[in-house]
Formats: sequence, structure tokens, C-alpha cells
Amino acid sequence: MTAARWERRVQLGAHPLAYPLVRGIGRIGPVVRVPRVGVVVSEAAPARQVLTDTEGFTKTGPGSPADLWTPVVGPSVLLNMEGDDHARLRRKLSGLFTPRFVDQLCARVAAKPMAALRAELAAGRAVDLVPVVRDLAGAVICELVGLRADRADFARAFAAATAVTSMVRLGRSRLTPAQVARGRKALSELTGPAAEAFAHGDPESVPGRMRELGLSEQEALGAVAAFVLTGTETLVSYVPRLIALAHDTGWLPRLVAEPERADDVVSEALRFTVPSPVMLRSVAAERTIGDVRVRPGDRVVIATISAAKGLGGFDPDRPHPPEVQRLWFGAGPHFCLGMPLAGAEIRTVLDTVLAAGGAAVVDRKVARRVLIPAYRSLVVRRA
Ligand code: HEM
Repeated sequence: MTAARWERRVQLGAHPLAYPLVRGIGRIGPVVRVPRVGVVVSEAAPARQVLTDTEGFTKTGPGSPADLWTPVVGPSVLLNMEGDDHARLRRKLSGLFTPRFVDQLCARVAAKPMAALRAELAAGRAVDLVPVVRDLAGAVICELVGLRADRADFARAFAAATAVTSMVRLGRSRLTPAQVARGRKALSELTGPAAEAFAHGDPESVPGRMRELGLSEQEALGAVAAFVLTGTETLVSYVPRLIALAHDTGWLPRLVAEPERADDVVSEALRFTVPSPVMLRSVAAERTIGDVRVRPGDRVVIATISAAKGLGGFDPDRPHPPEVQRLWFGAGPHFCLGMPLAGAEIRTVLDTVLAAGGAAVVDRKVARRVLIPAYRSLVVRRA
């Protein structure tokens, strides 16, 4: 099966109805009003217009995901903030994920999971990459909340994070009180240790570093919650899909010989997979997007997946035009804060596979009915 077909299977496994619907709407026009869904934006230029116009569009209005998150995570976790408060917190956090810091963090936490992956590949054994990336993401969460942890804790941290994110479903606009209570309990397993690390102020720990950057405890815990919610499943979705795509298109053996092309492949695979396939906004002031007039209270569905895929098939040799560049990490004031960390985690796994001489995919299964499209398992063996 071709790379594009496998990707389509991954998307359909997660959203058998919504994926064809969203892609079909994109074929009708760049901006289309769809009853009961909202105004669907499927091209990069109008998507950027919406994401960067903070007076016209908000993440916190009616029908936005903030409605769903806020009862669980509290009112100040970046994703559900706007305006001055949001800008102030982003400013304080701007010195957090410096390239040096994320490289050190990643090298520290990835050492064990990557050594295990290297050993399995070197021994010629089949390895499922999904739990490997899950362990890495869990180890990063432990580090972010200030827990010096071992493998069992990684799994617990990952489970606590996904207990919250798995409550978000397409079409769900409110959580029941029981769901809110479950989500709060799961999150407290992560914010509890973060509060302790903040109180100790160890600058080696991420919460301690946030204290040094001038964040209050409430702000630091909000930021930790935002990292955990946004930076976990996206990676566990993306990294196996990257390896699968590179394998299916013949780029994996090519990268073993030309590792300097790895960044092009990573970035093109992000464009082709779009781990966070849609972004939502609520209209705050009358605007025109394309030729569609929108009014306060309207919902805007930015189909990043259509805007990115519009460029065509997987081709790391084709540069991305400016309007499309990094759109999969958002645009404007909510642009992904964790991009440098995501990049370091992605390269850690890819570089380990390349250092082992590449790998062949020997078995895979797609995840069904999940929010973020993903493989449930991707088994590889040394090529
Ligand atoms: C491949 C992996 C990732 C992808 C594709 C991704 C994508 C995105 C996108 C599209 C947004 C903007 C959403 C919007 O405007 O509605 C976002 C925001 C965010 N991301 Fe990422 N992300 C990834 C990994 C991470 C990681 C590893 C972290 C941190 C540990 C992280 C932290 C954040 C935070 C905190 C925000 C909210 C920023 C704000 O609202 O000001 N992300 N991400």
C-alpha cells in the first residue's frame, strides 16, 4: 500500500465520518459555511488571517474548546487565555525552551528509552515504536513536572495526561460533573509534584526554572498543564507516522546515507500528517474571511489538514511556500510554545533509528476512534 493510502487509513481510523467530511468541504471552496459545523477554512492564507487577527477571533468564546478544558484545568493554561494575560504569560515563558535547554532535557530523559531501542534494533528484534515514543513522552512529562522518575512513572504520567485529553471528542461541548472530577484527579497527579518542585525552586527542574523566569505558582502549574495536554499525544501520533512515511516513500534508507536531509523530511512529514488536524476559534467581531461574512458567536473550524495537504503528495525536495510554513504548529499568539521541544524529541527517535542503519516496517495497526489520528502499533526491525 502507498504512503498516502496508509495515512488515509490512519485518518479514517480516528475519524471515519469527520475526515471525509472535512476534506470534502475543502473541495467545495477555501471558506465555506456549513450548518451545525461552522465556517470551515481550508486554505493556508485565510487560516493565517484568522489565527493572527486577535481582535476578530478568540479561543475562549462560545463553542471553543476552552469551554471544555476550563472546568478541569482552571482558567489560565495558555490555551484558554487571550489578550494581555496571555501575552504576559507567553513573554515570561519565552526563555524556557531554549535550544540548549531542550537538547539537554531530551538527552537526559531519552537516554534510557533510546538505549533500549538501539539494543533491540541492533539485536535484529522487532520493536513496536508506539510504546517507545509513549515512554519518551512520559519521561518528558515527568521532567516537565519536576519528577525524577523511572519507567513505571513514565507510564503513569502518560496515562494521567491522556486521561484528560481523551475526554475531548469532536462534537462534545460540555463535560459531565463526573468527567470533570476524573479529569481533575488525573491532572493533580501531575500538578501535585510540579507544585512541590516549584516550592523547592530547584533551577534544574522545569517548575524551578519557571520560578526563576518570574512565573507565579499558579502560572507555572497552568503552563505545566498546557504542556502535558498539548505535547503528549501529538508526539505519540507523529513520530511513528514519520517513520512509517519515511519507510513507505523510500526516504528512510536515503536518510541513512544523507542524514543532513532529516530536517526536510521531518518538516514535510509534519505537513503531510498534520498531527493537530483542526484548530477552532470563535468570532469576536464582524469580519470577512474569503468571501464569507462572519459575526460574533460564529464558530470557525480551521482545517489545517486541508490547508497543508493542498500542496500535494509527500515530497521533502519541494520547499514550503511562506503561507503554509509551520502552519501545523499554528500561527499568531497561540503558536506552539513547545515546537523546539517537539523537534528535539522527534530527532531523538529518528536519529536513533538512523544510527541503527535504518529500519523496515514489518507490521502496523491504526488506532480507531481516537481524537488525534495515530498508529496503535508500528513494528519495525533493523533494515
Ligand atoms: C508534533 C508535535 C506538536 C504539534 C503538531 C503541535 C501543534 C500545536 C498547535 C497547532 C498549536 C496551536 C493551537 C491553536 O492555535 O489553536 C499548539 C499550541 C501549543 N503547543 Fe504544541 N504541538 C506539538 C508539540 C508540543 C509540545 C511537545 C509541547 C510542550 C511540551 C507543546 C506545547 C504547546 C502549548 C503550550 C501550546 C499553547 C500555546 C498558547 O496557547 O499560547 N506542543 N501546538
